[in-house]
Amino acid sequence: MNHTISQDLFQTLATEIKVLKQEHKAIILAHYYQRPEVQDIADFVGDSLQLSQQAANTDAEVIVFCGVHFMAESAAILSPDKVVILPEQNAGCPMADMVDAEGLRAYKKRVPGVQVVCYVNSSAEVKAESDICCTSSNAVKVVQSLKGNDILFIPDENLGRYAAKILGRSLQLWPGYCKTHHRLTKEDILVAKKEHPLAKTIVHPECREEICQEADYVGSTAGLIGYAKNSEAQEFIVGTESGILHRLHQVCPEKKFYLASERLVCPNMKLTTLAKVRDGLRTLSPRVTVKEEIRVRAKATLERMLAL
Ligand code: 13P
Ligand code: SF4
Repeated sequence: MNHTISQDLFQTLATEIKVLKQEHKAIILAHYYQRPEVQDIADFVGDSLQLSQQAANTDAEVIVFCGVHFMAESAAILSPDKVVILPEQNAGCPMADMVDAEGLRAYKKRVPGVQVVCYVNSSAEVKAESDICCTSSNAVKVVQSLKGNDILFIPDENLGRYAAKILGRSLQLWPGYCKTHHRLTKEDILVAKKEHPLAKTIVHPECREEICQEADYVGSTAGLIGYAKNSEAQEFIVGTESGILHRLHQVCPEKKFYLASERLVCPNMKLTTLAKVRDGLRTLSPRVTVKEEIRVRAKATLERMLAL
């Protein structure tokens, strides 16, 4: 179970959330990096791509987004008629903050005609300035869909480099990175491999290049879960945020998973608690909204990805 609160408190909060959810015709979406108890009360748990697809297609009137700001913002971009709640308004993504619209516009001025692929971990303003969006599960496919040689990948340098390498293409890379995945070192992986010689190593493409090179499989959170489920291996060294272990244990209860480093904890993903989800549903706040002029352009960028 691995909840970070007592079973009694979990039951009380889960019951309150269920009642409020029905009252407001709400759906709760949660990312795999969320606390276990938050994942357990969600209507849908997924990776960034699956969550944006759910947000685009839901009939619910209220979307409670248990994740970080750019995820809730993508839901608000795709479903402007819905109330989108981010239970913890300070849950941001430091990588998304490593590029802003002004910096991107200056780059486009310097390199006229450059096509911009923006990772979904970015603000609505940055999406509005980009040509097409991608997530870690479809970055390769998105880059492959573009003709021409002048392509800028923002803001995750590691994911961009990974996609370029798979496709044998050269991309211009923005110097952004995930502070959580960057805490993982090659040394951590080598030590883990020594301790667990039979384990397969599975890592997220936000990891440094030298770590991806050591891996048996590199993929999005949903990709990592699918790989572990379908693999004949019984043990795995996991190079991504700790929250994923909850789903890995649920999907493969008989297999063993070793987090490659105890430092793989995203503090922003952990800010959302069940009490905050309950309060968010009670007050229908904090809400995430996007200015219409930005939203329309950002939506086109996201929809180009979803159409693939
Ligand atoms: P995915 O769930 O798309 O793999 O993304 C990981 C991530 O860092 C979300 O912030
Ligand atoms: Fe951002 Fe990294 Fe946290 Fe994902 S894990 S939300 S990329 S800081």
